[in-house]
Amino acid sequence: MISSRFVRQSLLMLCLLIAAACANTRYQPEYQPEFNQPGKDVAWWPTAQVLVNKMLDMAKVTPEDYVIDLGSGDGRLVITASKRGARALGIEYNPDLVALSKLNAVREGVGERAQFVHGDLFKSDFSEATVITMFLSEAINHKLRPQILNLKPGTRIVSNSFSMADWAPDETATIEEGEKCSTYCKALLWIVPAKVEGIWRLPQGELTLKQSFQMLSGTLKSGANTVPITNGRLRGDSINFSVGDANYTGRVNGSTIQGTVESGGSTAPWMATQAQNAFRAPSEKQNILGLLIQAKVTTEQTGQVKAANSASLPLIAVIAARF
Ligand SMILES: C[S@@+](CC[C@H](N)C(=O)[O-])C[C@H]1O[C@@H](n2cnc3c(N)ncnc32)[C@H](O)[C@@H]1O
Repeated sequence: MISSRFVRQSLLMLCLLIAAACANTRYQPEYQPEFNQPGKDVAWWPTAQVLVNKMLDMAKVTPEDYVIDLGSGDGRLVITASKRGARALGIEYNPDLVALSKLNAVREGVGERAQFVHGDLFKSDFSEATVITMFLSEAINHKLRPQILNLKPGTRIVSNSFSMADWAPDETATIEEGEKCSTYCKALLWIVPAKVEGIWRLPQGELTLKQSFQMLSGTLKSGANTVPITNGRLRGDSINFSVGDANYTGRVNGSTIQGTVESGGSTAPWMATQAQNAFRAPSEKQNILGLLIQAKVTTEQTGQVKAANSASLPLIAVIAARF
């Protein structure tokens, strides 16, 4: 006869085995990234939380913003921006970091607002962002610069530690030692400037602007008098410059600038309209006309009607259909 003690012991063993088996299938240790672990183009190193806060302060993130962190690591910038009410997205190449970020966002109560995608920042569209954050490298920042300069004027870019080569930042801030940041403790802010280089007409003359990122130089010509402008600067679509003792401030809106000019204690409105923009991309019509000219050259040279190269054939067909 089987003793009741034996039955109890057997049942206990069975329960322990089942419990162990269940725990074994469910337990997965949480992914723990290691400092400086290699990434696709740059290694993982987290921004100290105190600098995360400073970066978002400098960018003046509000609930109206859409913040995108390029190479979002464990998600801390995106999560912190979400906690400030902003919509935020992290683009990260390491899928384990993406999964960890999603988990962290849920834990921090912003699982809905903080979004993360697995992707390559070089192949991602971040043109809708109003704020870009990044902790990458000087070389990557430089590579991204043309794309960044084409973002909407006023878009704020904040980088942990790395510069944008000869595009000087609009602001910098450093976390002092002892404030819970030991390395990579500097934040740099740029505000994408409006593109204003070219000639502008004012009732009192012609304003010629030369632009180097957010810095402006140039002249104001009134009749025979040409005066250089000084202290010229853009902050997004906000423009400031001086001509002699007159200080001009204004807002660039496409091909007009409107604002006020202050001189000798009095203030008056001013307005300028663009006569020529050095940055304007060629229109489709200009591109098509260029192709027509090329095609004509070929025709004249060979006496045959054909496109200058095979790549232009589809466009030549479009031209034929339109004109
Ligand atoms: C220095 S860490 C910064 C992480 C986070 N932004 C922060 O400040 O805490 C850089 C991150 O970029 C990621 N990364 C590297 N190359 C990438 C690429 N081409 N596309 C997307 N993410 C990339 C790395 O995996 C790493 O998580």
